[in-house]
Amino acid sequence: MEKVSLYLHLLGVGMLLSLLFVSPLAEKALRKSSPADAVTIHRFINQLGVLSPFAVALLLFTGVGNIIFFHVSLKTAQWLQAKLLFYFVLLLIGAVNGPFLKRRLELYRARAEKQTPELDARIAAFNTREAFFLIWQWILVLLIIALSVFR
Ligand code: HEM
Repeated sequence: MEKVSLYLHLLGVGMLLSLLFVSPLAEKALRKSSPADAVTIHRFINQLGVLSPFAVALLLFTGVGNIIFFHVSLKTAQWLQAKLLFYFVLLLIGAVNGPFLKRRLELYRARAEKQTPELDARIAAFNTREAFFLIWQWILVLLIIALSVFR
């Protein structure tokens, strides 16, 4: 049973990393595309975003499974305490990012109908914040992996 739990945990890690690899590529395509194409690409980004809660939930359930099956003590394992802290910060960023992406999609839709300098400026501000979110998600996931592997 411990093997199943660990392999499913690693599947969750793979899912999360895949999403983190695709996201910057999709963001780059979004910025370089025409206003009409950008709406299609943004819809794709939002659909990808819907997958991340599944990966994060899989990691939580199998992580609890790992704690039980590998007899890891949450009281003494400092790597696990730090890991959980980073994991919850990651959840927080994800929870803010979901509604944020919906609002940004509306801006892209409005721009596809009528491009104005004001809309361009708002979209640019949203894009900068999204890049910031992505960088932090990468940093946190790499820290979590490092803590898990070099504990
Ligand atoms: C972004 C979230 C997470 C990532 C990227 C991640 C990554 C990993 C990796 C790569 C390993 C394998 C380490 C190895 O065998 O060398 C691992 C093991 C482990 N993870 Fe996670 N994990 C995450 C979330 C969680 C959560 C939320 C929990 C607890 C609720 C958890 C508990 C554990 C435990 C106890 C092990 C050790 C299993 C053993 O002793 O071999 N993980 N994790």
